[in-house]
Amino acid sequence: MRNVTKENITETFTGYFGDDTDPRVKEVLSSLAHHIHEFVRETKLTHDEWRKGLEFLEWAGKITSPERNEFVLLSDVLGMSSLVDMMHSTPEATSSSVLGPFHVSNPPPLEIGGDMKRDFEGEVVVVEGRVKDMSGNPIAGAELDIWQTAPNGMYSSQDPEQDIHSFHALMTTDANGRYAFTTVRPVSYTVPDDGPVGEILRAAGRHPWRPSHLHFVVKAAGHRDLVTEVFAADDPYLDEDTVFGVREDLVMTYVPQPAGSFPDGYALSGQVADSFARVDFDFVLPAA
Ligand code: BEZ
Ligand code: FE
Repeated sequence: MRNVTKENITETFTGYFGDDTDPRVKEVLSSLAHHIHEFVRETKLTHDEWRKGLEFLEWAGKITSPERNEFVLLSDVLGMSSLVDMMHSTPEATSSSVLGPFHVSNPPPLEIGGDMKRDFEGEVVVVEGRVKDMSGNPIAGAELDIWQTAPNGMYSSQDPEQDIHSFHALMTTDANGRYAFTTVRPVSYTVPDDGPVGEILRAAGRHPWRPSHLHFVVKAAGHRDLVTEVFAADDPYLDEDTVFGVREDLVMTYVPQPAGSFPDGYALSGQVADSFARVDFDFVLPAA
């Protein structure tokens, strides 16, 4: 096209694809160009604003490392990560939610009923439930990869004071699909806001807080992996999670239990619980 205009540039873009371009690549790139062009038209984007956007991406690139990916965080706070999740989640199965950047490889195995909190202090919680299939049958041998913040609001990979495996565990369900562990209640915390994403949040008058949650990746043979989070019903940030991860079925009440009722068969290191809370959560995995 020799005479490219404001009106025909989107169509012209589509016409530049090679004959043997993968149809899905063509579909996705055409749609992307269409929306970018419409965005520029709709907002009447100025040169200064366009340049600022490119500087933002450059800063995100500079701050990104194997430990910190500012582009994923951008996708998270724009709601894109959650939308992709929701578009591909199976109705009737447990909702998926964002993975986040704080998962570690090779989490330490923990036996059913084991203590994930080690010697950390805080409100003791017994977390238990089952992993089931879509028909409600328990799944034996399912693997739960579990992680959460320490009481100081930091994940182990953010905190030089913590062992890299603190508040991380790998558990395998028993013959009845059951899992159980003790921990301390995870706390609400802020996503990293000292980079370009923090600038966007501040410019938009938004805060960087996420409500208290436990992370899980649940895997079982013959089923799709489930990446999800379980939230505390009484958290003040539940209705304003900065990464849009909360789903109704993932919100759980931490039910207070009286002193002296701590269940047999549960390990508890360090502090002995006078009273504690109980969270009962079943995971339903979609078929592969
Ligand atoms: C997290 O839950 O660990 C998380 C998710 C998205 C961005 C930052 C942190
Ligand atoms: Fe988290």
